[in-house]
Amino acid sequence: MKLFDVYPLNDVTITKALGSYVWDENGVQYLDLYGGHAVISIGHTHPHWVKRIEDQLNKIAFYSNSVRIPIQQELADKLGKLSGKEDYQLFLVNSGAEANENALKLASFHTNKKKIVAFNKAFHGRTSLAVAATDNKNIVAPVNETSNIDFLPFNDEAALKEYFQTNGNKVAAVIVEAIQGVGGINVASEIFLKLIRNLCDANDALFIADEVQCGYGRSGKFFALDHAGVNADIYTMAKGMGNGFPVGGILIAPYIQPKHGMLGTTFGGNHLACAAALAVLEVIEKDNLIEMSKQRGMYLINKLKNVDGIENVRGKGLMIGFDVPDDIKDLRKKLLNDYFIFTGEAKPNVIRLLPALNITRKQVDEFLDTLNEAIETPATKEEKETVELNS
Ligand SMILES: Cc1ncc(COP(=O)(O)O)c(C=O)c1O
Repeated sequence: MKLFDVYPLNDVTITKALGSYVWDENGVQYLDLYGGHAVISIGHTHPHWVKRIEDQLNKIAFYSNSVRIPIQQELADKLGKLSGKEDYQLFLVNSGAEANENALKLASFHTNKKKIVAFNKAFHGRTSLAVAATDNKNIVAPVNETSNIDFLPFNDEAALKEYFQTNGNKVAAVIVEAIQGVGGINVASEIFLKLIRNLCDANDALFIADEVQCGYGRSGKFFALDHAGVNADIYTMAKGMGNGFPVGGILIAPYIQPKHGMLGTTFGGNHLACAAALAVLEVIEKDNLIEMSKQRGMYLINKLKNVDGIENVRGKGLMIGFDVPDDIKDLRKKLLNDYFIFTGEAKPNVIRLLPALNITRKQVDEFLDTLNEAIETPATKEEKETVELNS
């Protein structure tokens, strides 16, 4: 049987990983500035995470949500403590799309309204409502098309105010990434996020913060929205939550009432996922990784601003992007193939850095030195020909 060929692959097979390094089947070592797509929060195969999962595996891996699962409450308590949202409620799922799907559904149940406001360049996942709220026509199937979602320009206060003036009473929720990831590391302004909060309050709509990529300490605060000093009604989480173990969740404000059967999932909140998620929070707390992410991020951003050849360095904490001009447009490929460094991308010309929150200063310096070298080293004749062929 063939694999369904939907992923454009790098020609690399990773067989081993530790911290911020991974190795291929030939033993070649790569530095991971991509965190396996913003997923690796506490470092690959962190020993505490491995042990927590192993111990749980030897007790019980799964039983359905039809029985009490105390480790879910343990996770909720820890999450409440570290995020500072102790009075919120936790619903556990398996992925980012599922988290957003449930958040949007819950907002509609709660407000009994239908309209969702999303923003240009947003990415919220690939399930039906989440993908409809994603600003990429290529991944929205005809069956997902809906007139319930309206897209507005990101960071445009006037457009948002104007929209609410005419449609405010129909809006169930505004969904926003405080730092857009797939869209190219676009940081929402504090003023914009505060305005969303005010307009939602004034119109009985819910504020959904999609923290799937920018949350869980990545931005230097637990949630990226925390930088703006306002609360969302619902926070969605996934990527960094399990350090690679599939787990997602939504934090739900105390005034949103649950009802039996309103939401549900077979696998969400299973024992093994909770053990992995607890291990992540324990390491984040013990090793002070949110502060680490803030400090390392500031260091990296400042250094990148002095790198000749790249443009528009931006981001917060360890969620960083920069533009790659045309004359070095193969930089990302070059970093991977010639210098063995993984970075992320955002189309058409952005490199995204999303390393583990405990990447060391030495590893950051290793990256910076290599980046400078890769930019300075002229393209080989073969690379030049490929660039010309493709342009
Ligand atoms: C902001 C954001 N929301 C949602 C998702 C979807 O998450 P998943 O791929 O786990 O469904 C992503 C994935 O990249 C994301 O970046």
